Amino acid sequence: MNSHVRELGSETHPAAQLEAGNVLWQPRGFFSVQDAERPLLSPSVLASGKNVSFEPSTGRVGGSSLVGQMAEVLRGMLARFSDESHAFVARVCPEYASHLARGRTSFRPVEIEGRASSWRKDDTRLHIDAFPATPVHGRRILRVFANVNPAGKPRSWRVGDSFDAVARHFGPALRVPWPGSGALLSLLRVTKTARSPYDALMLQLHDRMKEDNAYQRQAPQTAFDFPTGATWFVFSDQVTHAAMAGQYQLEQTFLLPVDAMLDPQSSPLRVLERVKGRTLI
Ligand code: SIN
Ligand code: FE
Repeated sequence: MNSHVRELGSETHPAAQLEAGNVLWQPRGFFSVQDAERPLLSPSVLASGKNVSFEPSTGRVGGSSLVGQMAEVLRGMLARFSDESHAFVARVCPEYASHLARGRTSFRPVEIEGRASSWRKDDTRLHIDAFPATPVHGRRILRVFANVNPAGKPRSWRVGDSFDAVARHFGPALRVPWPGSGALLSLLRVTKTARSPYDALMLQLHDRMKEDNAYQRQAPQTAFDFPTGATWFVFSDQVTHAAMAGQYQLEQTFLLPVDAMLDPQSSPLRVLERVKGRTLI
């Protein structure tokens, strides 16, 4: 089944819809930027790179150029977004609530369209999300996004083929790493914990998709514009996606154990294990 973007509220069981590879969205009524936070809507809040990051467990902000009071305003906005995202997911998917681990929060103040980037970092190419430095060991990546553009500019996405289809298409090209290589990466501090075979395969899949120009053109895909004020959430390790244009977005990452899913068999972990014929964790 292809992925679809569906409006929340029409769904009787949002968690099942997410696990089936849908993006769920609502046009308004979630997060809004407060008046005192308006000055944060500028690329000048960045020190370098394309995102400001926030670690909810420590309150640490990374990648920002701000100091003093505006740095605190930024921290406050990110903390509020993180808390509201958690409440939102827990309310919409109560079956996940007690199993969700909160990951990073990010603020993305740079226009995507026309931004220079290597193919590997180019999110205008269809991909699934996988983390190079922070292995997930099979856990699901569930992300909440909010378009907070003050000028009414939508965030334009493409949503592509199902995870089953990409796993079948690219599976034979994915190489299970030699035993011990994951531990070595952690010893060398390339990764924070040992990279599991699952994490290695997901990174390869991310790269193989992005570098394949023919695949990018030919894969089944649908464009969708998320208007200003919209919120959407998605298992971004499963749903192939690309962000084509837009500026000013907030994002919160959650990690969910595969066993907390309604249907663990639909997880990228179980799909890749079937394709490769071996366990990957
Ligand atoms: C991505 O996860 O590929 C980027 C999404 C976005 O920034 O809209
Ligand atoms: Fe992505």
